Amino acid sequence: MAALLVTGGAGFIGTNFLYYLCRPQGGLNLSITVLDALHYAGRKERLQPLIDAGRIKFIRGDICDQTLVASILQRERIDTVVNFAAHTHVDRSIADPAPFYRNNVEGVCTLLTACCQYFLDEGHGGRFHQISTDEVYGTLSPDAPAWTEESPLDPSSPYSASKASADHFVCAFARTYGLQASISRCSNNYGPYQFPEKLLPSALQHLLTGQPVPVYGDGLQVRDWLYVDDHCKAVALMLGLKPKPHQALVCNVGGGTELTNLAFLELLYQTLRRIFKARPELTARYPDCMALKDQPFEAVITHVADRKGHDRRYALNDDKLSALSGYAPSVSAAQGMERAVLWYIEHGF
Ligand SMILES: NC(=O)c1ccc[n+]([C@@H]2O[C@H](COP(=O)([O-])OP(=O)(O)OC[C@H]3O[C@@H](n4cnc5c(N)ncnc54)[C@H](O)[C@@H]3O)[C@@H](O)[C@H]2O)c1
Repeated sequence: MAALLVTGGAGFIGTNFLYYLCRPQGGLNLSITVLDALHYAGRKERLQPLIDAGRIKFIRGDICDQTLVASILQRERIDTVVNFAAHTHVDRSIADPAPFYRNNVEGVCTLLTACCQYFLDEGHGGRFHQISTDEVYGTLSPDAPAWTEESPLDPSSPYSASKASADHFVCAFARTYGLQASISRCSNNYGPYQFPEKLLPSALQHLLTGQPVPVYGDGLQVRDWLYVDDHCKAVALMLGLKPKPHQALVCNVGGGTELTNLAFLELLYQTLRRIFKARPELTARYPDCMALKDQPFEAVITHVADRKGHDRRYALNDDKLSALSGYAPSVSAAQGMERAVLWYIEHGF
């Protein structure tokens, strides 16, 4: 049986990944331990059904605590570490970069050191996988080709600088010590369980409560939107690929859906209008909802000052992962948006 340690598993993508691995049709023979410090975006209660069903063990703790990490690797006989733990909000990193350095760089170094000790020095063998981001590549002009894994890292924000730094450490541990390691660099995820400071849940909360949605600058920043289930599938596929000796395996994971923030928000608004038309009972629950007022999209947004250093465009070429594993995103933007909006309406934020 494979023994996974999933760090940062109580956050948005980690939670989706755990439900993805434990879905009834999954059929995977896994023992799963989750380590999460439960910082502001971590929600243990969302994992409670998996904990109660004995599908995962949950430990509250910090990836910067090497003694704790080493003891978990030993006790649970871990052979694969998948690291989702990070501080992730660009605006927070601009206001205060220090937690981004600590959790995203020092934390990854600590995990890597503990993995080297247990997997290599003590000879147990094992693999480290880092969840990274397309933001490490910086920003693209409108007509530039999408980034490949060979594109130089050129991060703009303290958040993306911390993630790029972590990527360099993962590659260095593979090259220097021979740690078996991989990195997936994904684009903007959306879906259930996302902390409400991020674009989709924040905009949806505004719309449901009758407030205009704030849009940074002209709203024409382009992102490649990835439904979170497709990302989980990609990570699972990557874990099935063996990195070459002394070389971290790096793969981009895109959603195949480049949209401006305005286009993404308009899709959200039109999806919400359709759902409210089909389900009149929602009117009593959300009497102030913008979708009830039959206004044009332009009337439900408000432009605000742009974010400092806001990257203009992200686009990923994920041909490498497709060629190696057959990966392709299977959820369209329209399908993903409908699923996500319905989920938040049913479960809250
Ligand atoms: N959300 C996206 O669109 C996106 C896109 C690209 C990459 N990523 C990457 O995916 C990973 C997960 O992102 P997310 O959106 O789920 O983040 P999130 O902010 O929702 O969750 C992060 C989780 O990490 C935990 N954590 C933070 N510091 C920790 C520490 N020192 N020790 C233990 N746990 C700690 C938090 O408690 C939280 O549960 C991150 O590494 C992020 O950089 C996210």
